[in-house]
Amino acid sequence: MKVLSIVGARPQFIKASVVSEVLRAGHTEILLHTGQHYDEEMSKVFFDVMGIPEPDYNLGVGSGPHGWQKAKMLEGIEKVLLDEKPDWVLVYGDTNSTLAGALAAVKIHVPVAHVEAGLRSFNMAMPEEVNRRLTDHVSRLLFCPTQTAVDNLSNEGIHDGVHLVGDVMYDAALAYSERETDILARNGLESKQYLMLTVHRPSNTDNKAHLEAILSSLDGHDVIFPAHPRTVKFLDEHGIAVPETVKMIKPVNYIESLHLIKNARKLLTDSGGMQKEAYFFGTPCITLRDETEWVETVQDGWNVLVGAHPTMISDAIDKFEPSGSRPSSYGDGHASEKIVAMLESI
Ligand code: UD1
Repeated sequence: MKVLSIVGARPQFIKASVVSEVLRAGHTEILLHTGQHYDEEMSKVFFDVMGIPEPDYNLGVGSGPHGWQKAKMLEGIEKVLLDEKPDWVLVYGDTNSTLAGALAAVKIHVPVAHVEAGLRSFNMAMPEEVNRRLTDHVSRLLFCPTQTAVDNLSNEGIHDGVHLVGDVMYDAALAYSERETDILARNGLESKQYLMLTVHRPSNTDNKAHLEAILSSLDGHDVIFPAHPRTVKFLDEHGIAVPETVKMIKPVNYIESLHLIKNARKLLTDSGGMQKEAYFFGTPCITLRDETEWVETVQDGWNVLVGAHPTMISDAIDKFEPSGSRPSSYGDGHASEKIVAMLESI
């Protein structure tokens, strides 16, 4: 079996790393990087730290408007598909690279398998919601991380090819969270004595009032803030000051990120994946959005949605103390094996 895996943005390197390892044990994998993320700390360090093989193709697309970015990806991916003639195209998550990969493949009749299918925020203003809905509707195999995801697909009339396999991010967290790093010592942090912040969604970064509200709510708290380049750019453009107690650092690698989340007193984030990583480790999560795809984390009481409302953020920092159990809603840590077995069986 020959599988063309398409990645492009930071979370996809993490997801693909665990599936790739299983896939390469018995099959041929061709790895295509769209180049959506290209900074050393957004891309290369992930390949290095997780030992992901060098991509066979790197389209070097880079940043730009959505239409332009996807158009360049479509053109490049189609060429590779015609040359390589894979049995499957494997796409991950909900980024522009995901949708470009799925569309390029389905148009020339290469079957698409979507890892992390069925997630919904029900907010079509998010580019990710558009990407994931369209990708699901053209995929032959849909690998769902949760029962909620299966139900979402069912509500849209998608039943064929749907498989509940668990979450590859849980596989990855199990595989990498025990690795050593000195990230705490390097930043003068002590376990459970600091808050961690990440923010990169357009709804927060491209809105001056939101970004200001989030940062000012953190004034006076010891915070570590690995900042996405998108966020740094908008902080500069809007002239927003970062409070003195908030230590802004460059993006961290995956092992460092897991370590920071695990040891944080609380996590404040608008990332999808990090909400779950906090849940895996029992770190209370304060989500800087009005909705989440990972509803189990909220239902189980470990995640609270506060948007960019200063009083809600402050209240959650001071008072949110989850204590309930964390059932294994995200699988058994063997999602990758199930995905490869399913691809083999068809
Ligand atoms: C993308 C995904 C998002 C995912 C996130 C993880 C889409 C629509 N969004 O968002 O779902 O959670 O990646 O990080 O695909 N930039 C750099 N260097 C880089 C990459 C980006 O400077 O290596 C800057 C550029 O200024 C660019 C901006 O970040 O304009 C946005 O990058 P883009 O890839 O479009 O979206 P993300 O915000 O990273």
